[in-house]
Amino acid sequence: MTNSATASATPDVPTPRRALRLRRRLEEFTPMDTIPWEEQAEQLLRCREGDGYMGLRPPARVDDEVAALLDHFALPAGASILDLGCGPGMYSARMGARGYAVTGVDIARPVIEHARAEATAAGLPCRYLARSFLEMEFDGEFDAAFLTNSTINHLSEDALDELLRRVRRALRPGGLFACDLVVLPRDFHEQPPSESRTIFTLPRSPWSDRPHRWLERKLSFPAEGQRVVHHVIVPERGAPREFWSRFVMLERPAFSRRLARAGLDVEAWLDQDLRSPALPERELVWALARAR
Ligand SMILES: C[S@@+](CC[C@H](N)C(=O)[O-])C[C@H]1O[C@@H](n2cnc3c(N)ncnc32)[C@H](O)[C@@H]1O
Repeated sequence: MTNSATASATPDVPTPRRALRLRRRLEEFTPMDTIPWEEQAEQLLRCREGDGYMGLRPPARVDDEVAALLDHFALPAGASILDLGCGPGMYSARMGARGYAVTGVDIARPVIEHARAEATAAGLPCRYLARSFLEMEFDGEFDAAFLTNSTINHLSEDALDELLRRVRRALRPGGLFACDLVVLPRDFHEQPPSESRTIFTLPRSPWSDRPHRWLERKLSFPAEGQRVVHHVIVPERGAPREFWSRFVMLERPAFSRRLARAGLDVEAWLDQDLRSPALPERELVWALARAR
């Protein structure tokens, strides 16, 4: 929700072309994430943009991704699909409307309650569960599972392995798992640490329902293959608030090995459109892996 929020806001100050050099080291940014997911989820629901939400992928892109995912899954109507980190259910609801039995799982209760109410009102075959995908206990229940919005890049190494194990367990043998992820740009490791900043002035956003400024600092730690995003929210009145999130950039071969260790074999690396094979220089790609 946080990283893609930039897409729909107009910056006051364009990101400087020449990034500033950073003096701080990655170890100083210890937690993976201090984003208040519950609070942000509640606020996100107040930030509708047409059929979509500020900070999430626009509805037309969700339409395309859902159509492509369903083509890859190639499942009969009624098959069961698991939507991990489902948010307000943009993907689940579309799949439910096509006749699939979708289970959406999200750690933030407000989006789950919202998605559940929408599904009930529309009579969709979707169920929504408020829980962490790192604690789900499904066992061979699903024909396919997916995780969107590069959420996978926000996980620590241990959490990533835990998630993949649980996804494998949730799938029937032969079931497909799809996720999009940001991979390390070529020659990234050789670059020095750097920083870029953008300031937005917003009447409201998933950070606040009052007018505020949002400073987004993107700190890049190439040697560690990580980015840290620092969000400073400055309200018209009152104290500023700040949050951090860490973003681990993955490498295709290493991620394939992780998937394989969990019992998921990569079948394809796909481009952002989920239709064509991912070219080697692509930074956002989809992995499609089959459960053994
Ligand atoms: C960027 S949003 C994407 C929402 C939705 N998949 C979409 O693309 O419209 C990421 C979602 O992952 C959820 N999330 C983060 N960590 C989670 C966890 N450990 N278990 C379940 N959901 C989680 C957040 O609450 C948030 O709704």
